[in-house]
Amino acid sequence: MQTAHELFLHEMSDMLDAEQKLVEALGEQAEESSNAQVKKAFEMHQRQTEGQVRRLQQAFESLEEEPENTECAGMKGLKEEHDNFKEEDPSEDILDIFNVGAAKKVERYEITAYESLIQLATQMGYRKATQLLRQNLKEEQQTLKKMEAFSKKLKPEQMGMGEEEDMQERFTPQRKSSSKRSGRKSAA
Ligand SMILES: [Fe+2]
Repeated sequence: MQTAHELFLHEMSDMLDAEQKLVEALGEQAEESSNAQVKKAFEMHQRQTEGQVRRLQQAFESLEEEPENTECAGMKGLKEEHDNFKEEDPSEDILDIFNVGAAKKVERYEITAYESLIQLATQMGYRKATQLLRQNLKEEQQTLKKMEAFSKKLKPEQMGMGEEEDMQERFTPQRKSSSKRSGRKSAA
């Protein structure tokens, strides 16, 4: 491979496969979410992702090109992380927290991939493709923000830090600063 055009088509094909894999994975994540808001967010992003697949197909059409038959190894790996984790038999709350973290990894991966694709498309003057890719990028950025908000909100039910005495021991040195913190909170 020697040209930017070939690289662009290769990376676009990779992304198309990634988004297609994600439509399925997001459906699975929505189904297994116990938090109603998280479930809704996964369902919404699944519908968005179907639209992203269409935009990528339109970008190929705008260049009168066909996608290559490739597999996105990155997305496949992220999906494997999820499937392996489920073998650990996680509790509902822990699975939700894991899935939100996994979604953040996926969005960062996609954001970087779209940024590179947009860079190439812009350099080559592929205006229609650039515009379509920017729309996908925007949706990924919005989804990342939403997932970041969830990860701040979701609290694990059990910390599993050992015996009670053990925990007290661990927290004793920090007591002073934590009471300071709560003092500031009530003042706000
Ligand atoms: Fe996506």
